[in-house]
Amino acid sequence: MNKSPDELLKELTLTEKASLCAGLNMWMTKGIERLNIPPVHMYDGTNGIRKTNSNEEMGITTENVPATCYPTGSAIGSSWNTALLHEVGVALGQESKTMEVELLLGPGVNMKRTPLGGRNFEYYSEDPCLTGELGAAFINGIQSEGVGASVKHFAGNNQEFEKMVTSSEIDERTLREIYLSAFERIIKKSDPWTVMCSYNLLNGTYTSENEHLLNDILREEWGYDGVVLSDWTAVNDRIRGLKAGLDLEMPGPAHYNAKAIVEAVQEGKLSEEQLDKSVSRILKLVERVTGNKAADREANADYHTLARKAAAESIVLLKNDNAVLPLRPETASSIAVIGRFAVKPRIQGAGSAKVTPTRVDIPLDEIKEMAGTLATVNYTAGYPEDDSVNEDLIKESVTLARNADVAVLFVGQPEYAESEMHDLKDIELPEHQVKLIQAVAAVQPKCIVVTSSGSALVMRPWVQHVPAVIHSWLSGQGMGRAIAEVLFGYTNPSGKLSETFPVKLSDNPSHMRIRGENGKLYYREGLFVGYRYYDRKELAPQFPFGHGLSYTTFAYTDLEVVQHGTCVKVSFQLANTGKRRGKEVVQLYVHDEECKWTRPEKELKAFAKVELDPGEKQTIVFELEERDFSYFNTKYNRWVADTGYFQILLGSSSKDIRITGRLHCDFGKEEITFHKFSLLSEWVSDPAAKAVLEECLNEMNEHVIDKVFLNEEFIGFWEDFPMVKVFQMFGQTWMNERSPDEVIQELIERVERVRNN
Ligand code: BGC
Repeated sequence: MNKSPDELLKELTLTEKASLCAGLNMWMTKGIERLNIPPVHMYDGTNGIRKTNSNEEMGITTENVPATCYPTGSAIGSSWNTALLHEVGVALGQESKTMEVELLLGPGVNMKRTPLGGRNFEYYSEDPCLTGELGAAFINGIQSEGVGASVKHFAGNNQEFEKMVTSSEIDERTLREIYLSAFERIIKKSDPWTVMCSYNLLNGTYTSENEHLLNDILREEWGYDGVVLSDWTAVNDRIRGLKAGLDLEMPGPAHYNAKAIVEAVQEGKLSEEQLDKSVSRILKLVERVTGNKAADREANADYHTLARKAAAESIVLLKNDNAVLPLRPETASSIAVIGRFAVKPRIQGAGSAKVTPTRVDIPLDEIKEMAGTLATVNYTAGYPEDDSVNEDLIKESVTLARNADVAVLFVGQPEYAESEMHDLKDIELPEHQVKLIQAVAAVQPKCIVVTSSGSALVMRPWVQHVPAVIHSWLSGQGMGRAIAEVLFGYTNPSGKLSETFPVKLSDNPSHMRIRGENGKLYYREGLFVGYRYYDRKELAPQFPFGHGLSYTTFAYTDLEVVQHGTCVKVSFQLANTGKRRGKEVVQLYVHDEECKWTRPEKELKAFAKVELDPGEKQTIVFELEERDFSYFNTKYNRWVADTGYFQILLGSSSKDIRITGRLHCDFGKEEITFHKFSLLSEWVSDPAAKAVLEECLNEMNEHVIDKVFLNEEFIGFWEDFPMVKVFQMFGQTWMNERSPDEVIQELIERVERVRNN
């Protein structure tokens, strides 16, 4: 492009402008040769590049161009490692350039409202702080290479069932605090070149046409000036979409909509100025993309090693009784490896995020290689490929396990269960696997279970019978190696659950309303998603959010919490008290002691992954801001941090809080805007208003028998009464013919005068 977007905008005809607002085909934008405007090439995805063989095909069920397959969202979400996400982002940016990919359609950052969400494997977490921090790091990595990212699916797309025709009905506070919060963090911290809107409606309007979402919040409030593009076919009314700020329709060419845009401008139904805004943003994207340097990596760069490292950071050691892990050759000289996933690992989910991997590490091969000559390794399939229960396979497994020192079982959700386009039916292991684990555990006390799934699993029917569980998620092409390293202790596990694992599915807060009915899905659990709900209900999960064991131990001491102006500084000492080098994920939660509005017991506000040698200590410092103490106050339509006491909780999981501090926070209050129904409590909380009110009451008390004094007793009883009603109750003989409304109005004006002086 040799002219600036502004210059080009002046030279484009109306028809050309309209045509630029949709793609050329499945994966490209249109170019305009006469003005030297090149097309942009974009491809999925979230945990690797899914570049199709042709730009005319969707390529969901075919093999595509091989690319590195990294751990899926929920897996890498469990790494809690922003540096790793950045590194993977950089690698994806580099790989994109060698594949002529200019814009990568990821990451997916929707919240996991229900463990049944069909695309949960693509998403990082049930928590917006964790998701937002990881997503921003990933995007900064990709974009540092001159390749664009597309954060998706904006917003409220939390399940697959009838998503194209279902409205996610989410109240404003929940929307802001839970479902938009990660997007907001990402927009502010990484400025993604594009945002992809979702398929669903949000509170009655398609997100691709939603003025409140795209215009009021994304553009006006968050200041986003990049391109908003549609999810594939998510456009319904193109003109409404443009008016709301949906710039680019995908896929194209959508000639019918180009025609509709031209007609709408000619008929005065869409202003050309509005169209120009979208075209200008698209041209800026083209400009950014063409600034992209030519391929600058060696064709054989070692991304596979990075895929292994990412998998190793993602795997979560859920249980390790009697330190049965890591395996030691002196006590494990014969190992029974049981389960088909040991030879055919599930490395990812299905749908648009599915990558054709460059290679795949096979767990059984890796275990054999690491066991070397020290241990014999025998394998049996354990369960059939279909869902049937095969007693012969179970018997064979029992014999193998009985004759070994240790058994390692590979189980998980079947391949078909986790895919875009449909939700999961349940989160239990298939019956044939549950029976297998129970039978093997009955004969082999050292029974180690390695689970694979992209969403939480219910483990109650068997978990109490086995000493060790490793959750390997769907951790990409390096997963086989990473599991073997954890088993033998070459990797000290450091993953922490990015979502709660419930005891049973019905414990989940969304359980009453998982599916939409007649086009509406009410998010009635509100703010209480994931651990926010389990905390509030005092319901013990199987494994809580943030849980994950290590082969070493950590101690938290010397906590200090101080407020300096608008910043709250939290510092403490973390020490590795065990015998191995290891990484701890330190989690900082905030608890609001005083807020009158309902708030979750605690919310994650910061975290860090810290690596320490045995005996090593490090001072960890977090700096929190006003926003970290705030809730979205729908009365004022803004974030509010109440003045009062807060607790800072630091821990190794959401249920393993190691050290707690308390502080009184005061970020300064904005003045209350008084109105007729302002409550007595509000009047007395504002010094100017209280003084005016007291003056008025003194006057009133001279004329009434039941006098009003603003003492503790009176306020304690009447605080939730609107002041206007207090006058109605106590001041009638004084007000005479003046109405309570007039008295209040006069008071409000007096407060204004005092404030202005
Ligand atoms: C998915 C998007 C994806 C797009 C292109 C859609 O079905 O929802 O996440 O980027 O297809 O493959």
